[in-house]
Amino acid sequence: MVLGDYKIEVAFSPDLFGACDLNNAIVVVIDVLRATSAICTALESGVERVIPVSTLEEALEYQKKGFLVGAERNGEQIPGFDFGNSPYSYKNPELKGKTVVLTTTNGTKAINMAKDADMVVAGAFTNISVLSKWLEEQDKNIVFLCSGWKGRFNLEDSLFAGAVIDRISGNYKYRELSDSALASKYLFHTADADPYKFLRNSSHRKRMHKLNLKKDVKYCLTLDQSTVIPILKGNEMVSLESYYESITS
Ligand code: MLT
Repeated sequence: MVLGDYKIEVAFSPDLFGACDLNNAIVVVIDVLRATSAICTALESGVERVIPVSTLEEALEYQKKGFLVGAERNGEQIPGFDFGNSPYSYKNPELKGKTVVLTTTNGTKAINMAKDADMVVAGAFTNISVLSKWLEEQDKNIVFLCSGWKGRFNLEDSLFAGAVIDRISGNYKYRELSDSALASKYLFHTADADPYKFLRNSSHRKRMHKLNLKKDVKYCLTLDQSTVIPILKGNEMVSLESYYESITS
């Protein structure tokens, strides 16, 4: 048995990302509730590209230029914008071929934080199987960047990292699992069969229930509703498929 050369690491919040080794790494940005789930859903529904922006000011600038813009803060849609951050808003055939700009409390900031890495993709329970399979096929280190909540750890993002690590870490190409990767994997083992039940006391789930967003929580914790892997190309998230087409054509 020959151990490979690759490492897996998890940043439990964006505040820990700076300490991660990005050498030859794919960064998987995670915001299960709800930014990366929404981005997967948008691209799965035929949206051409999602432009993640960190601030409301940037979002407003795009809106002035006539772009469709989704804006959420603290779980709520910001008045005056086209959408919030509910994946259901992006399950809309009328958005086919369109460009959507998105700003959220944590997720879009995390994507922009990772933008200088070799490759940046988005992960959520929505695309867990296609993402896990693709990651394993890449000869790269993996850094999971959990969006968390305003710099703090959240359960759902680390649980998702653990779920993927549990699927791929058996592959001998991964020589080193950092303590954060091991902790995520053990967390997943604790939750295993039922993330929805496991997260019943998590802060953001409670916050979303208070905002009558139970349907969104259920959706975002349901596995494999999408076969799209969103990848960052410049400042926009596109499907991996269209990304490969663009670099091979
Ligand atoms: C975030 O960016 O923190 C989340 O996506 C917030 C949400 O959608 O409720």
